[in-house]
Amino acid sequence: MRCVKKAVLPGSTIGVLGSGQLGRMFAIAARRMGYRVHTLSPDEDTPTGQVADVEINASYEDVDAVRRFASGVDVVTFEFENVPATAAAAAAECAPVRPGGYVLHVTQHRLREKTFLSEAGLPVTPFQRVRSLEELQAATRKLGLPAVLKTAGFGYDGKGQYRMKTAQDLAAAWEAVGEQEAVLEAFIDFQCEISVVAARGEDGSFVHYGAVENRHRNHILDLSIAPARVRLEIAREAVELARAVLEKLEVVGVLCVEFFVRKDGSLLINELAPRPHNSGHFSFDANLTSQFEQQLRAVCGLPLGDTRQFGPAAMANLLGDIWDNGEPDWEAAVGVPTVKLHLYGKAEPRPGRKMGHLTAVAPTLEQAVADVERARRLLEK
Ligand SMILES: Nc1ncnc2c1ncn2[C@@H]1O[C@H](COP(=O)(O)OP(=O)(O)O)[C@@H](O)[C@H]1O
Ligand SMILES: [Mg+2]
Repeated sequence: MRCVKKAVLPGSTIGVLGSGQLGRMFAIAARRMGYRVHTLSPDEDTPTGQVADVEINASYEDVDAVRRFASGVDVVTFEFENVPATAAAAAAECAPVRPGGYVLHVTQHRLREKTFLSEAGLPVTPFQRVRSLEELQAATRKLGLPAVLKTAGFGYDGKGQYRMKTAQDLAAAWEAVGEQEAVLEAFIDFQCEISVVAARGEDGSFVHYGAVENRHRNHILDLSIAPARVRLEIAREAVELARAVLEKLEVVGVLCVEFFVRKDGSLLINELAPRPHNSGHFSFDANLTSQFEQQLRAVCGLPLGDTRQFGPAAMANLLGDIWDNGEPDWEAAVGVPTVKLHLYGKAEPRPGRKMGHLTAVAPTLEQAVADVERARRLLEK
């Protein structure tokens, strides 16, 4: 990995691998500070491309295109961690890539990620590697049932994971993950889920957005509440665990750690995302420096910004399902004065597809949650 000695200053060009909503919000933050943004992905008219200066349409496997792309920018980052290692390596031949290839390598594969965490002495959901139906049977004897079988690579929003309740479910689950390398996890009967979004600078500086409470629906994030309604010690421990992860991985950039809070208050790390995260979207409206500006600052080698939060906040995702009864009632939703609307510019509102989100910042957490939920209901007419 090359090291940028000098900061990448405003006026420079940032390359973003991936072109979804995370890149879009990154590009908005970057352009606000006078940077230019180029994005590369296999898609056209993308959420990031609509905001970027240049949108390049190429496969991540096309290493020549990735090299040309990286040659035209001052630093490369990514908003999609499943870019192949070969693409990250090709980019690194022509420009610094942040976070580095090692962070991608570890976090894009559940087995490597969990092995890294447990070898680092960090608390992780009990897991077993599974490469055959026989190994799956042996692994469930060790971990017990219910359990969750997850593909080792390329999972997001609950895709590629199967919950098994009885021994009869094993064969179907093995078939469902495509009979390929997978991870078996004990099913955790948690009190709640929380996450910590944090950033680490080139100089080792560390900032975070505190513990955020996350509610999922159909394995997809539905609602985030900041700060999380957990005991102070739990929130503090989560932040310290996140700090340890960023330090051990030597992250330069933003990383999110997702946790299960068990009934006894202990924490288990569920997974890592080496980029801004859906559970940190509230920071765009509620914090002095958003997670996207923080990523920009970190990858450019600038000092990290103050993360202070203006007030209790809640974020509700808008999935394609909201379009079921036609165009949502935007006017009604933005009529809730504490609420901010974010739409990602995606043309096709498919069920389960993340199309946008709402954030509320209010004098109390209860009001922030109530306002954001009310605004979302108003959208649905
Ligand atoms: N071992 C588990 N025990 C209980 N719930 C789980 C477990 N694994 C996943 N889940 C539920 O599914 C959600 C999505 O799983 P996750 O591993 O975070 O995958 P993704 O990459 O799709 O976000 C989690 O946030 C949690 O609600
Ligand atoms: Mg997750």
